[in-house]
Amino acid sequence: MPLDTASCLADLAVVFPGAALLSGADVPARNLHDTSFLPDVSPLAVVRPGSAEEVAEAVRICARHGVPMVPQGGLTGLAGGAHPINGAVCISLERMNGIEEIDPAACTMTVRAGTPLEVIQKAADEAGFFIPLDLGARGSCLIGGNIGTNAGGNRVIRYGMTREMILGLEYVLPDGTLVSGLNKMIKNNAGFDLKQLFIGSEGTLGIVTRAVLRMHPKPGCVNAALCGLGSYDDVLRLLAEARRGLGPMLSAFEVMWPDYWALVTETVGTRSPLAGRHRIYVLLEAQGLDEAIDGPRFMAWMENAFEAGIVEDAAISQSLSDVKAFWGVRDACAEFQTVLGPHCAYDIGLPVAKMDDFADACRARLVADMPEALSVYYGHIGDGNLHIVALDRAQAEPPMARISGIIYDTVRDFGGTVSAEHGIGLLKKPYLSYTRSAEELALMARIKAALDPAGLLNPGKVIDAPNGKTDT
Ligand code: FAD
Ligand code: LAC
Ligand code: ZN
Repeated sequence: MPLDTASCLADLAVVFPGAALLSGADVPARNLHDTSFLPDVSPLAVVRPGSAEEVAEAVRICARHGVPMVPQGGLTGLAGGAHPINGAVCISLERMNGIEEIDPAACTMTVRAGTPLEVIQKAADEAGFFIPLDLGARGSCLIGGNIGTNAGGNRVIRYGMTREMILGLEYVLPDGTLVSGLNKMIKNNAGFDLKQLFIGSEGTLGIVTRAVLRMHPKPGCVNAALCGLGSYDDVLRLLAEARRGLGPMLSAFEVMWPDYWALVTETVGTRSPLAGRHRIYVLLEAQGLDEAIDGPRFMAWMENAFEAGIVEDAAISQSLSDVKAFWGVRDACAEFQTVLGPHCAYDIGLPVAKMDDFADACRARLVADMPEALSVYYGHIGDGNLHIVALDRAQAEPPMARISGIIYDTVRDFGGTVSAEHGIGLLKKPYLSYTRSAEELALMARIKAALDPAGLLNPGKVIDAPNGKTDT
């Protein structure tokens, strides 16, 4: 297919007048990058469709002219999946904002792909329901991007990842075919579950335009505790006790290592709810039905944890504003960009029992190679998902390949995954084989080639088709 950028832009301009198509110097600065710290790239243009049919039309025009496309949501992705590509048209979903329907009987919400996650959370809350997907970027990320990355976040331990919250999906294939599968039924085994191909494939197989989300009943009460513990063994004991004693109420189990705690309380300046210093910190949350019953139950469970010597100290929420303040310590990592400057961010997965040994090994290997290396550890440990923020204080720009090499070699040694929740995008593509077998990679490439034979949708991200056409 000959690349014909001038006539592609001319054809797009017919369908997308005015600000719906921005090219050259008019491309807004925010569309030149996502949140992966990759250098800015100016795409050929940004097109901003207002409907699923317009997304399909934009894709058909680009495909006809052989012009590559990059789906863009809220651009909060950390792996480079939405990062522009030279000569490509970015298809931004930002104008496709809105909730189309709340169906209380089915417990579903039908949304357009460009709706911010926080808008969806609030709408569910106002209707007396609950959308469990939650992450620090909630105000900026769009549901289409959450679906594209199969985002994890804070409540996976109870509700699962984004994949578990999607009942139906509408999407545009790389040739411009609009496929509507806005199923609302929990049980539907009629043939292949096609939507799963588009959840977590980072905009390489199709562009999501609408989704049916599964809502949950609004929790009747929320209790939380921020705990200081003396060892990682005690973290494992607390997790086991929480699973046993709080059962399905357990809705978050987040762990913060002392380097994280120090950075947040001393440098970011977040108020510490605990007076002393501890070897390790846990934020746990329990959602119940009725405060009169579940509040005392939570308190009694915490008292047991104290009596069993698992917890050294804990701040226990007395109100929803306490719960919010505890989460403030965990959400403060959003400030790392401001206080640390450019750094590398990781979302590895590991067997839960090995997390602390991994952190020790990783820290030691980084410092052995770069004496001024700083690495900070925290994450959704109840889900086996550890975050690392790393940089070399001796260098203004973090040596990403060197740091990633050390971290991913250690992940491989510990039998983990290079991405638990942020996805592969561009940054982790060289390391995908650390986690997936040759047969799995070959199958991914065959699926990519089958859906996108011309290799035009988000080329170079995640996986290349076997003919190599997708590596630009
Ligand atoms: P973008 O960054 O715009 O795109 C992400 C990927 O999805 C790209 O590959 C893009 O091409 C593709 N895409 C975008 N829209 C569509 C679409 N409509 N159809 C198909 N593909 C599409 N992530 C977590 O998983 N858990 C966390 O706890 C978490 N916390 C974060 C906290 C902060 C402060 C920040 C900055 C990021 C965090 N993230 C987290 C990462 C990020 O917010 C998520 O990956 C989010 O799901 C990306 O959504 P987005 O709309 O910004 O997508
Ligand atoms: C978090 C992001 C970085 O959990 O995934 O804070
Ligand atoms: Zn996370």
